[in-house]
Amino acid sequence: MAMKDEVIVAVDVGTTKVVAIIAEENGGVLEIGGVGTAASSGIKNGAVINMESTVDSIRKAVHEAELMAGRTVDRVVVSISGNQIRGFNSHGQVAVPHREVREEDVRRVIEAAQATKIPEDRQLIHTLPQGYIVDSNDVKNHRPVGMAGVRMEAKVHIVTCAKSSADNLMTCCNRNNLSVGGLVFAGLAASESVLTEDEKELGVAVADIGSGTTDIVIWHGNAVIHTASIPLAGELITNDVAQCLRTPRREAEKIKVTHGCAFRCQVDDAEEIEVAGMGGRAPVKHKRQFLCDIIEPRVEEIMWGIHEQLELSGFMDLLSAGLVITGGTANLPGIADLAEANLNMPVRVGQPNTARFGGLVDIVRGPAFSGVLGLVSWCSGNMVLPSGQKRVVEKKKSGGLLGMLSGWAKTAYGQN
Ligand SMILES: Nc1ncnc2c1ncn2[C@@H]1O[C@H](COP(=O)(O)OP(=O)(O)OP(=O)(O)O)[C@@H](O)[C@H]1O
Ligand SMILES: [Mg+2]
Repeated sequence: MAMKDEVIVAVDVGTTKVVAIIAEENGGVLEIGGVGTAASSGIKNGAVINMESTVDSIRKAVHEAELMAGRTVDRVVVSISGNQIRGFNSHGQVAVPHREVREEDVRRVIEAAQATKIPEDRQLIHTLPQGYIVDSNDVKNHRPVGMAGVRMEAKVHIVTCAKSSADNLMTCCNRNNLSVGGLVFAGLAASESVLTEDEKELGVAVADIGSGTTDIVIWHGNAVIHTASIPLAGELITNDVAQCLRTPRREAEKIKVTHGCAFRCQVDDAEEIEVAGMGGRAPVKHKRQFLCDIIEPRVEEIMWGIHEQLELSGFMDLLSAGLVITGGTANLPGIADLAEANLNMPVRVGQPNTARFGGLVDIVRGPAFSGVLGLVSWCSGNMVLPSGQKRVVEKKKSGGLLGMLSGWAKTAYGQN
């Protein structure tokens, strides 16, 4: 249950932007008190490549959020993504000594399931329970505490990241005097924000298509069964536009966002766009369809990259609810239609679900904010956390922090 006076500080560190949200949980409503956004240039493919610049972006975003919220914060939960993310399924088994499942048995069986050899250069970030079997009863992912039995099994999905990437991200926060209460896979956070409970139950894939990375998560039976990340996203489209229209990247980005469309057949033959020339040359007019000719193949490549991951997962047949795309690139008109035409499955654009949010929620509307809003939801005690992770909270009046919950990002306690 949510307690009053708890503050959640979520920081989404992306390739183009860092967003910080300070939210307070009150009676089940997540009141957003502060939002800060800063341009990001120190991240490539989810990893920090420029410490100074990332430290700076985090500082600006958090400071702006602090000013808006009228408070200072010193503990954050941060997103992590990129193709250094790895996910795999595992299971564990324990005896139930008291013939009735207790809280500690659930803890032990999850520990048994995550007792798999993780290389030294990898860091465990999530152990997400998928389901429990007590004796021969498959109780799915309902909490088994109180059930009679002598033996219990747990199936889990484990997510790891490169240790160096996690360390670098945490160092960037620490240099701003911010301790990191937890790391959350960005794709998982986005999926929390855009999916309905029915989709999670039926089977669905989410692709958070940002600028540098596309993070993929598959849900089925109300559990995460696959996670992946590929280095194909919006900045490739911008680069293509810049090259083909012979215009600077900044201008290409503007043209893509203002006039871009992923599906050529949705653009009128008569429409024209004006492109600024380089080096003082006169602007040039092009058909808007020409712009689509540049964008469409690259979007198709991104879609086929997602499709390849879904095939590799082995869970393609379970995706009855299709694919939900979100992230900034999901703003591109026609992208869901093009994806449907290519992938032969239902595709929709996932807007973040803001029903539980109050306060300054209007500042963070649109698919580019599903990640950071999902991070806040993830930390909130009211929601069913697939990983059973505990909240990272800051006590309001004392300014003091609850001690870092031991193994916050690692230990799972089951759902419901
Ligand atoms: N209307 C639009 N049309 C096309 N692309 C858009 C539009 N709006 C935003 N984008 C693209 O979305 C991308 C940014 O998305 P987002 O903010 O989700 O990325 P990020 O979180 O910073 O990066 P990443 O998640 O890849 O690390 C940019 O490539 C931008 O060009
Ligand atoms: Mg992102």
